[in-house]
Amino acid sequence: MANDPEYHYNNWMKHKEILVFKNSDQLVEFAIRKWNAVAGDAIEHRGLFTAALSGGSSPVTLYKELSETDLKWDRTHIFLVDERYVPFDHNDSNYRMINDMLLSNINIPQQNIHPVPTQKGSSDEAAISYERNMSSFFHLSSDGIPVFDLILLGVGEDGHTASLFPGSPALTVKNRLVVSAIPPDESMHDRVSITFPVINNARNVVFFVTGGNKAGVVKDMLENENSNLPAASVRPSKGKLFFLLDQHAGALLSGS
Ligand code: 6PG
Repeated sequence: MANDPEYHYNNWMKHKEILVFKNSDQLVEFAIRKWNAVAGDAIEHRGLFTAALSGGSSPVTLYKELSETDLKWDRTHIFLVDERYVPFDHNDSNYRMINDMLLSNINIPQQNIHPVPTQKGSSDEAAISYERNMSSFFHLSSDGIPVFDLILLGVGEDGHTASLFPGSPALTVKNRLVVSAIPPDESMHDRVSITFPVINNARNVVFFVTGGNKAGVVKDMLENENSNLPAASVRPSKGKLFFLLDQHAGALLSGS
């Protein structure tokens, strides 16, 4: 097919499917097909589809294109992978970007949208509240971990993913679903983030990465088995792991 990936490594790295696309249109098109397939399977087997979405700039076009796709939004529940601890109408709010690009343009019931409550007293309180919301929605026991159908991740140039930054205590948290996190630069705002136990419990984890500025970190996390980058800790225990890359982000991979 015209939008088939240029390079497709599905057995190159165990448990990872790495797809590099010639251009962003093909990357977005494939990501929407993947979303559609995962959502369709989830709704067929469990009656609903749960997704946790990242912020940042990479997925903006994807969310915009998704909003123009005829999907079963009434059976879809959207959570956030992470959030900056700012009001919903702040320019840096992940919820604001996802709402502007996607949620405000689709027929999704308000109760299916699960933003991080950044109107609390602190990012710690917001994390505790979000964790309670998540536990209640997924009907979890006290030590239960949700199984998202899809978690969409980006990666920073420093190898962070979600708001799990290099050297952060949040990297080793095992007994929480959601934590507050302090980024390396205070201009990035205090953060609220899901933890690796949640990410690695998902049925499908998709890294969506664009731009030549990510080529180095992509090569490190995919080809350096000893990578200590936070994003390299994403190893779903039972789920599938996909790397959807544009040709710039995948430019340094050995097979490219
Ligand atoms: C955030 C994101 C974060 C993002 C990476 C990549 O709140 O910023 O959730 O984890 O995915 O920083 O961001 P870009 O897509 O802007 O490069």
